[in-house]
Amino acid sequence: THAPITITLTGAGGQIGYAALFRIAAGDLLGPDQPVALRLLEIPQGMRAAEGAALELADCAFPTLASVEIADDANVAFDGANVALLVGSRPRSAGMERGDLLAANGAIFGPQGRAINDRAADDVRVVVVGNPANTNALIAQQHAPDVPSERFTALTRLDHNRAVGLLAAEAGTPVADISGVTIWGNHSATQYPDLSHATVRGRPALDIVDASWARGPYIERVAQRGAEIIEVRGGSSVASAANAAIEHTRDWLLGTGERSAGHWTSAAVVSRGEYGVPAGLISSFPVTSAGGNWSVVEGLDIDAFSRERIDASVAELAAERDAVQELGLIP
Ligand code: NAI
Repeated sequence: THAPITITLTGAGGQIGYAALFRIAAGDLLGPDQPVALRLLEIPQGMRAAEGAALELADCAFPTLASVEIADDANVAFDGANVALLVGSRPRSAGMERGDLLAANGAIFGPQGRAINDRAADDVRVVVVGNPANTNALIAQQHAPDVPSERFTALTRLDHNRAVGLLAAEAGTPVADISGVTIWGNHSATQYPDLSHATVRGRPALDIVDASWARGPYIERVAQRGAEIIEVRGGSSVASAANAAIEHTRDWLLGTGERSAGHWTSAAVVSRGEYGVPAGLISSFPVTSAGGNWSVVEGLDIDAFSRERIDASVAELAAERDAVQELGLIP
């Protein structure tokens, strides 16, 4: 048997937390042979909900669940953390100005980044789910100078999975037939779901679906899928978001395996200047994972349409970075 891996989840009393905790505890993240020690971080208003989730976790008697601890202090919650899932955030509410949104999140992700820096395990890997996810990840990273910068990532796996699912539906084929879909840029309405390298059973997707659909309504539908879920379900994406966070983390730690051969996924990782994305921005790319590290899939042809869409989303990321810099939230 292995020593437990410590997983800290922030926003554990919230909806995504509730959907994620039971799957993680059941072994969906690291398999049935790897015990997990859960640390739940909440703010005082979320404490009772987190405590309730912990009671239900106990009632599941999961053999893979080594322990559950709840804290409202980041220094306690991140102590020894191997994985940090940063779900709790201050998302945009109606009428909120961008500066207010970024400042509210700076007050959350700055101190959490600092606590990760000071307390987490040497191998800590951070996945930011709470919006604005890419920029929150950047804020946390900039407060953790002792942690390798590439350990901070943001979730675009839900966008990726939505993009795969909607392509499969249009092509009338199971999702298992699809590969080579990419989400580029920001986890926001400017994201670019790119089918120019996608294949369906090995054939170019753009030979199977209408190219004008792929470059118009498809992009819009993927980018607006969260709003569509709210409209239909009467609430935001929860189980699919928790699933995506688990898949991102699982692939990062355990590797993308044989899917690497022309089959990649999407994650927001720190740019080293790939595809003209300014170094240092945390942007979504086509990625594979091996040995606990993400690698950007390099050498893909970027046509004029893709170039324009990638540049537009990356420009938004750069503007968010500039804004948090001006607010003094990052150096
Ligand atoms: P929720 O409101 O149900 O839960 C958020 C929880 O975070 C609350 O319990 C709150 O008390 C807690 N929280 C707030 N500040 C905190 C802090 N400083 N430390 C610890 N906990 C804190 O929201 P839900 O539905 O669980 O969504 C969480 C976030 O995930 C939102 O920002 C949402 O926009 C984002 N999201 C991101 C997706 C992605 O693909 N990247 C997809 C879906 C949601």
